[in-house]
Amino acid sequence: VEKTSVEIFEVGPRDGLQNESRPIALADKIALVDCLSRGGFRRIEVASFVSPRWVPQMADSGAVLAGITRVPGVRYAALTPNLRGYQDAHAAQAGEVAVFGSASEGFSRANLNCSVADSLLRFAPVLAQAQADGVPVRGYVSCVSDCPFDGPTDPGAVVRVVAALRDMGCYEVSLGDTLGQGTPERIAAMLRAVLGEVAPDFIAGHFHDTAGRALDNIAVSLEQGVRVFDAAVGGLGGCPYAPGAAGNVATEAVQARLTDLGYATGLDSGVIAQAAAMARAMRGARDAV
Ligand code: HMG
Ligand code: MG
Repeated sequence: VEKTSVEIFEVGPRDGLQNESRPIALADKIALVDCLSRGGFRRIEVASFVSPRWVPQMADSGAVLAGITRVPGVRYAALTPNLRGYQDAHAAQAGEVAVFGSASEGFSRANLNCSVADSLLRFAPVLAQAQADGVPVRGYVSCVSDCPFDGPTDPGAVVRVVAALRDMGCYEVSLGDTLGQGTPERIAAMLRAVLGEVAPDFIAGHFHDTAGRALDNIAVSLEQGVRVFDAAVGGLGGCPYAPGAAGNVATEAVQARLTDLGYATGLDSGVIAQAAAMARAMRGARDAV
């Protein structure tokens, strides 16, 4: 019997590293991506074209995209909050880009310096230009469960932003439990609301693991038909504009759980272990000082 396949979208080089306060050498970032490129991933998020004042660690994103050895069949992704970011990402030959919005107003202000409605207005020209260039655009919705500023999120607010990103032309929307405080019950209820609007193959799960429930939240998402999950090797990361949030769920932990549950990921565990060790060493270099 052929196993159902589930894709892990590796976000470590972006979400995993963006929160590190000490500068990480360009060569180390490139080495991490080059290692991951041999792991069997189809998509790896490696860059973020945001203001260098806001996220200094991502300021060398163009150099990362220029320095990596691209493996055929792997798409290298970049965050693009506005048209300026998109133009830089396209010039750096990002294989796909992502706009990132929020289901809550407080986080939208903290992360993008504008309201949810205004963020969608800024995304529209990104989608239009990307469509003209033939570049796929992913969407993120943050704070699908809780907001560090506004408290618990109404699932209806998630549905509205997902629908707006679909209407704009995103090919997939990743639902972010940015704070990592969602319970399986609340994640399941939020997903039921979202799946009343879009099909499960339009959705990815993006769980931070602050409270240690990310794997359980992945399990309830699998039950509802979600088949793409974001993860970061070594479990690094967090968002600098989400106080109290910890790293993404670790790729190696998701890979192990999916294998236990009988799903096929197509990933090479040996390469992932090697990348996880590299990612942890990049962080250790900071901790040692
Ligand atoms: P703003 O201050 O409202 O924008 O920030 P602005 O247009 O007034 O520009 C301010 C400055 O930024 C100017 O430079 C611009 O040139 C520059 P200055 O005059 O001060 O020297 N600027 C840019 N520079 C480089 N690239 C650009 C760009 N745009 C403007 N694209 C802005 C608005 C969006 C720029 C800012 O809020 C920002 O950069 N935010 C990014 C925050 C961020 O990266 N957060 C982490 C990623 S999201 C995340 O981690 C969540 C996720 O993982 C899912 C989840 O877990 O939920 C995806
Ligand atoms: Mg995140």
